[in-house]
Amino acid sequence: MKNIAIYPGTFDPFTNGHLDIVMRARLLFPSVIVAVTDNPHKKGDFSLADRIAMVKEAVRNIDNVSVDSFKELLVNYTNKKKARIIIRGLRAVSDFEYEFQMALMNRNLSANIETVFLMPDEKYTYLSSSLVKEIARLGGNIEEFVSEHVRSVIFKHFKL
Ligand code: COA
Repeated sequence: MKNIAIYPGTFDPFTNGHLDIVMRARLLFPSVIVAVTDNPHKKGDFSLADRIAMVKEAVRNIDNVSVDSFKELLVNYTNKKKARIIIRGLRAVSDFEYEFQMALMNRNLSANIETVFLMPDEKYTYLSSSLVKEIARLGGNIEEFVSEHVRSVIFKHFKL
């Protein structure tokens, strides 16, 4: 098994904070798959196809990063990909409890898989997809937080 790393998330939408994690992960692992999915606890704004397209655009020139999607248990998907690393970003202590629970549950479901936590640059520690959407909807500037492509998708989606 190669050290393929899976970076799963809803990415609704993909932000510069997510990209920061991808850039760190790609230096640690020979191959990184950004795996887009739905989170049953969240009602997303963008379709799966739109979210995949946003990630693809963001990582298009990065040679060891690819984009995929899945609709099953993350550990099953990870095993199918012959990967054994799950990457998650940790922004603040508030992320910890949820991430800790998921990592241990995933380990319980599949003991061969390790979750690796990476910290984004400090400037992204307060960033989240929901905040980006809220700021955009209310006419704020989101230039610092998402790519130009993501910005245009957000503007189009919310008819701004
Ligand atoms: N920079 C900026 N924001 C970040 C970030 C970073 N580095 N890392 C996370 N975030 C934000 C996201 O923008 C998102 O914000 P939002 O809540 O405002 O939308 C939030 O943190 C978490 O989003 P994300 O990283 O996409 O994760 P998620 O919680 O939506 O995804 C899954 C969770 C998909 C990994 C999980 O539900 C899963 O594994 N599902 C598959 C089914 C399964 O196996 N379930 C059992 C799990 S034990």
